Amino acid sequence: MKIFAHRGASGTRPENTLPSFAEAIRAGAEGIELDVQLTKDNELVVMHDEQVNRTTNGKGAIKDKTLAEIKALNAGSWFDEKYASTKVPTLKEVTDLLIARNYRGIVEIELKTNVEDYPGIEEKVSDLMLSQEWPFIYWYSSFNLDTLERIHKLEPKTRIDLVMKDSEEATNMAMDRSYIKGIHPSLDWALAHDAEVPNYPIDVRPWTVNDEENLKKVMDLQVSGAFTDFPEEIQLAKRRN
Ligand code: G3P
Ligand code: CA
Repeated sequence: MKIFAHRGASGTRPENTLPSFAEAIRAGAEGIELDVQLTKDNELVVMHDEQVNRTTNGKGAIKDKTLAEIKALNAGSWFDEKYASTKVPTLKEVTDLLIARNYRGIVEIELKTNVEDYPGIEEKVSDLMLSQEWPFIYWYSSFNLDTLERIHKLEPKTRIDLVMKDSEEATNMAMDRSYIKGIHPSLDWALAHDAEVPNYPIDVRPWTVNDEENLKKVMDLQVSGAFTDFPEEIQLAKRRN
């Protein structure tokens, strides 16, 4: 079972920022998950929400702001004043960090097209990811099946997972598409389906597992991975169990 740092080490650093990814690498996370969105001027930025309101000192939608406007925001003070100089990273800045640290784990790139369409985001991400060799492996995920279909056509050999809406319909759609190799349900869904999860024909990787008790529960379900906000603690707990 592989442990993925959810939005980096987002329990101890501002999520989806260079400090959170650097901490995930330092903590020995086997995987690192991040969320990608598109600015008004078609630049790829790493942020979870479609709006900048929660994780920066700005207001409004990413799609209505240029990269320069997003770069002017403070993406750290909401978490802790000591991160006041932290900016929203581009996807390229994150891959530069991963290269600089020679990261050898798995990078899970979630295309955040469940609310916004972001036309062309799949091509933009794929152009970057196919532009060079990486020390790490990368996979794609999304809640949006159309996005998964598009990215699969662009990169037929890259692993693709569905982030689930916790419905039977979503699960069945994943099963019907042979290129989808795994599902990411919520922890609650995985625990509520404890009789089925160990027998799933594709990988199951729940989110978010933040304590040892829940880690033991998902290990009992024989899941192939889990997302956590606390990669150091959960990696250590995994070794104990
Ligand atoms: O892929 C698991 C997880 O990243 C999905 O949830 O809301 O953090 O993007 P969210
Ligand atoms: Ca995500």
